[in-house]
Amino acid sequence: MSEAPTRERTGPVSVARRGDVAVITVTNPPVNAISRAVRAGLLDAFRSLAADSSVTAVVISGRPGRFIAGADIREMNSAPEPPHLPEVVAAIEALDVPVVAAIDGAALGGGLEIALACDCRLATPSATLGLTETRLGIVPGAGGTQRLPRLTGIAAAIRLIGEGKILIAREALKSGILDDIMETDLLSAACALAPSIAKRRLSAMGVAPGGDEVDAAIAEVIRRAKGLPAAARAVELIQATADTPFAAGLGRERAAFLELREGPEAKALRHLFFAEREAAKVPGLDGVTARPLGNLAVIGGGTMGAGIAAALADAGLPVTLIERDADAAASATARLHGLYERQVAGGRLARAEVETRLMRITASADWSALADVDLVIEAVFEDIAVKTDVFRRLDETARPGAVLATNTSYLDLDAIAAATCRPGDVIGLHFFAPANVMKLLEIVRGAATAPDVVATALALARRMGKQPVVAHNGDGFIGNRIFAVYRRHAEYLIEDGASPVEVDAALEAYGFAMGIFAVSDLSGLDIALAMRRRRDATRSPDERYVDIADRLCAAGRLGRKTGAGWYAYGADGRKRPDPAVADMLAAARAEKGITPRRFTAQEIQRRLVAVMANEGARVLADGIALRASDIDLAFVHGYGFPRLKGGPMWAADRIGLATILAEIEAAHRAGGAGSEPAKLLIDLARRNATFSDWRP
Ligand code: NAI
Repeated sequence: MSEAPTRERTGPVSVARRGDVAVITVTNPPVNAISRAVRAGLLDAFRSLAADSSVTAVVISGRPGRFIAGADIREMNSAPEPPHLPEVVAAIEALDVPVVAAIDGAALGGGLEIALACDCRLATPSATLGLTETRLGIVPGAGGTQRLPRLTGIAAAIRLIGEGKILIAREALKSGILDDIMETDLLSAACALAPSIAKRRLSAMGVAPGGDEVDAAIAEVIRRAKGLPAAARAVELIQATADTPFAAGLGRERAAFLELREGPEAKALRHLFFAEREAAKVPGLDGVTARPLGNLAVIGGGTMGAGIAAALADAGLPVTLIERDADAAASATARLHGLYERQVAGGRLARAEVETRLMRITASADWSALADVDLVIEAVFEDIAVKTDVFRRLDETARPGAVLATNTSYLDLDAIAAATCRPGDVIGLHFFAPANVMKLLEIVRGAATAPDVVATALALARRMGKQPVVAHNGDGFIGNRIFAVYRRHAEYLIEDGASPVEVDAALEAYGFAMGIFAVSDLSGLDIALAMRRRRDATRSPDERYVDIADRLCAAGRLGRKTGAGWYAYGADGRKRPDPAVADMLAAARAEKGITPRRFTAQEIQRRLVAVMANEGARVLADGIALRASDIDLAFVHGYGFPRLKGGPMWAADRIGLATILAEIEAAHRAGGAGSEPAKLLIDLARRNATFSDWRP
């Protein structure tokens, strides 16, 4: 088949001829998103082809490895501009000749909606397909909820759209979305087949009502959606396809799409989408090359060290895990087995994979294994003497140029770096528990950390599929510094009259996976106790101090691991409110002469979001975080802050900084020294500005 020269090229869309077949190619790097120019180009192409009687079939193709990604998300922050995607899709369906989608690479969102309007879908084995709109808080807006169930049935469509699943070609073929997979030369195959393919407009087909499996799919989608309105709307739209004419369904879908895209959840999710990409952009790293990441090590195989080693092995990296002695190395190995067993039991890992992952990790007490590693992550006890000792030994053992990282939660990175003769090679890599699950990686730069060491940390985050957030050195960095203030104010609330159960319930109603007191019980009250003791020396006498957690620790209530903390835990591991805690609280209030008052859930939520944002403002002003959106990411990916609220800084901006300032003035009255409104918050509130717009 000879290829005629390109006949027409309208911006990112070109039309070429292969004999009687017209091949439309979308070229809009980097991801082939459907920008306004792409929609206009496609519409022009379909309209002129409709008038061209020499064309016997049409093939739609993208760039190699990229069919068509979804909408251009940048365009979603302003009013939709014509032509709209439904017009483009309607123009495809209106063609009299057969249209084939030749899918190589990703066909996502609007890209798949274009493919669904074709009469046939062919793909390469590596193609990926999905209607992922709900991940951005919207529903498909160009027929996806109406056409997909006509191919897959209602239950499968509910799962695919409701959960925003991405299928690989083989799965998409099985579920009926693809007609065939082409092992070689997709485009030639599509052009050869296209003229003989029968017209098959999905809009003309009916949908069979599903059986019991529909109820199961709905229950699963709603449970996973955690209150995301888009998921529930998608379910409604898909369910209705069984008894709604196509055109009416299409109209309802478009209305839902337009309404949801302006909703607070979609805006928060778009904010996070951009924040996640922005976070890896760190000033001063242009042209800086990362160091190699071939051979890694972790020191300390406790809770964190074992989790970090597993996370590295999960990313396909070989790891040496160093413990204090052979017995401790054996315990670390047992911990790793346990960790993988839990993943298998939870259905998150295939049993066959466990051995492969474990093979990548060598636990030992022999430091000589560290001589040629590229990067080592220290995760020993949170004790500056122990850490500086480890870094002194690392300085003697590691090869020149090796990156020396610490997983410290609070300690001074510069003091740790000073134990070596190479502080430029030292960096903080702060993982979150469980390290093989939590997405956040807080990358902490010390005063001397070299730019290529920061670049290496970012490369490691990418390799591990972690969300990096870059911080500067300072007590608690970004996350734990703000978290400490959040915890302190939660404790003021309970001393003033709320119960831990009420505070947790308010946070969970706001969307947190777990309330702060339940979280404390899970991580162990001794960790925060050690931090409070460390701070005793520098705490202002004018700062209000709540000693209830100290009393719990003194009573041996260290949380879940001791069977009791803020809650009591039964043999089944379930938490329940404990009258003993209520008694302790009552006694503490009585000693301070506090008359308890009631707090509504909204008061609790507002107070705690406000104090997080206020400390976040200080973190920004001190140069610890580069931008407000990095703080949002830290809380969403490391501390269970609800994605649908966009993070504490975003949430504060939505509430309005003048309201937040008034709330902080009340919080200051409750907390005393250390709870003053941040200067940056006062400035922004006065100017009616937002954290999102703030630049250093
Ligand atoms: P852990 O007590 O569970 O584990 C520490 C491990 O280090 C122990 O297995 C111990 O045998 C080993 N170790 C101690 N000294 C050593 C040495 N000189 N050489 C080799 N191994 C040595 O402690 P965890 O919770 O894993 O914490 C480790 C670090 O991670 C701390 O700096 C902590 O602040 C930080 N971190 C902890 C988080 C948590 O949720 N537990 C979260 C984020 C950071």
